[in-house]
Amino acid sequence: MTRIVDWIEAKREGKPLTDEAIRAIVSGFTSGGIPDYQMSALLMAVVIRGMTMEETLALTTAMVESGEVLDLSSVPGVKLDKHSTGGVGDKITLALVPILAAAGVPMAKMSGHGLGLTGGTLDKLESIGGFRTELTTSEIVSQVRSVGACICSQSDSLAPADRAIYALRDVTGTVASVPLIASSILSKKIACGADAIVLDVKVGSGAFMKDIDQARELAQTCMFLAEAYGKRMSVFITDMDQPLGRAIGNWIEVGEVVSLLQGKSVDSRLYGLTMTLCQEALGLAGKCDDPAKIVESGAALEKFGEIIEAQGGDSRVTRIRGTGRAGCTVTSTAAGYVQRVDARKIAELAAYLGAGRQHMGDSVDPIASVLLDKVVGDGVAEGETIGVVHSSRFELLTPETEERLRDAFTIGPDKPAETHLILDHFASDRVKTPR
Ligand code: URA
Repeated sequence: MTRIVDWIEAKREGKPLTDEAIRAIVSGFTSGGIPDYQMSALLMAVVIRGMTMEETLALTTAMVESGEVLDLSSVPGVKLDKHSTGGVGDKITLALVPILAAAGVPMAKMSGHGLGLTGGTLDKLESIGGFRTELTTSEIVSQVRSVGACICSQSDSLAPADRAIYALRDVTGTVASVPLIASSILSKKIACGADAIVLDVKVGSGAFMKDIDQARELAQTCMFLAEAYGKRMSVFITDMDQPLGRAIGNWIEVGEVVSLLQGKSVDSRLYGLTMTLCQEALGLAGKCDDPAKIVESGAALEKFGEIIEAQGGDSRVTRIRGTGRAGCTVTSTAAGYVQRVDARKIAELAAYLGAGRQHMGDSVDPIASVLLDKVVGDGVAEGETIGVVHSSRFELLTPETEERLRDAFTIGPDKPAETHLILDHFASDRVKTPR
C-alpha cells in the first residue's frame, strides 16, 4: 500500500495525487492515523506546488464526506449562503441575513469566531447580551422554518476534516494556498446545505489575499467547485486596503449594522456593498425585491430583532442610536485630505485594544474598538478628530495608542482619486448536473 511518505514526496515533486490518495489522507488525518508532522509536510508541499482543479475537487469532496450534510429540505425555497474571506470591519453578514430573511429567503448562516486580528461574526453577535451562537441541528432547522434565518456556529458534525486541517494550517504557515482555501470554504458551504452562494473575496492590506491575481484564481477555483456540485455561485472581489465602514470592533460593529438597518446614513462603501451583495443573493434566490426598500420599510430591522430574540439575545439592541462615542478621541496633527487608512494597521490596533484573539478559546473584549471619524477622501484640519479608540483596559488608552491610530492614516495635500470597492465579479452562467 502506498504510504503517506510517498504521497508527500509525490506532491513535493509537483505530481498530482489521485482521488483515492486524497480521500485516504483526509480520512487518515481526521481519524488520527496520520500524525500532524506528516500532514504539515504534505500541506506545505501543496502550498508550494499547488493542486489541479481535479485534486481540489477531490479534496473538497473528501472533506464534505468526512461529516454530515445539513438537511434543509423541510425548509421551502432556495437556501442561500454567503461567505466573506474576512476583512477589517466587515459586518455585512449581520445586515444581509435579516434583509434576505425579510424578503423570504431562508438562511441557516454558519459563521465563525475570529482568530488573529479582529473578531468574527460570532464574536460580534456574542457582544449582544444573552445571544446564543451554539444551536443544535434541530434548533437550526426549526428556527429557519419559524423565523426565516439563524446565525450560529458550525456544528462539529459538518466537514470535521476541514476544522482539523484548518487548525493545523493556522499554526504551520499553510493558510495561504488557493486550493486549500477554496476547498475549505466550499466544503463548509456544501455541508451547510446551501443551494446558492454569494462569496466576497477580500483583497488588500487587511485581507489574506494581497493581490488581485491571487484573488481571481481563488474566485475561479470556487466557481469550479460550486458548479461541480450544481450550486449557483456569484463571487465578488472587493477592496480591503481600507476598513469597511467606520466601526471596527465587536459591539461597535453591531451598532453600525443597527444604524444601517434603521435606515440611517452610514458609510457609503459599507451601505453600497451590503446592497450589492443582497441584490445578488436575492437574484440567485429568484427574487427581484429591492434590498434598499426592505431596509426602508423597517422589515429587516424587525427581522434582526426576531433572530436575536430566537437565539436568546436582548433585542433592545435594535433600538440603539449610533455606534457610541465613548473612548479616547484622537486628533490629526496634519491638515489635508485622507489618502489612505491602512486596514491592517487598524486591525492590529483593534486587536491590541482587545477585539481579537491569539488562540481559539481566548476571550475578546466586546467594547474594544476603533471608530473612524475620517475615511479616505475626507478633508481634515489640524486638531480635528480622526477617530476614537476604546478598550475595557483603560491602561491601554495611552498617547502611544493614539499615535498608532495616527500612523494608520496617510494625510496629503491633494484629494485622492476615487477607488473602486468592487474590483471584479464572477457569476455562474450554467450549472452542471449536481453531484
Ligand atoms: N476561510 C476559510 O473558511 N478557510 C480558509 O482556508 C481560509 C479562510
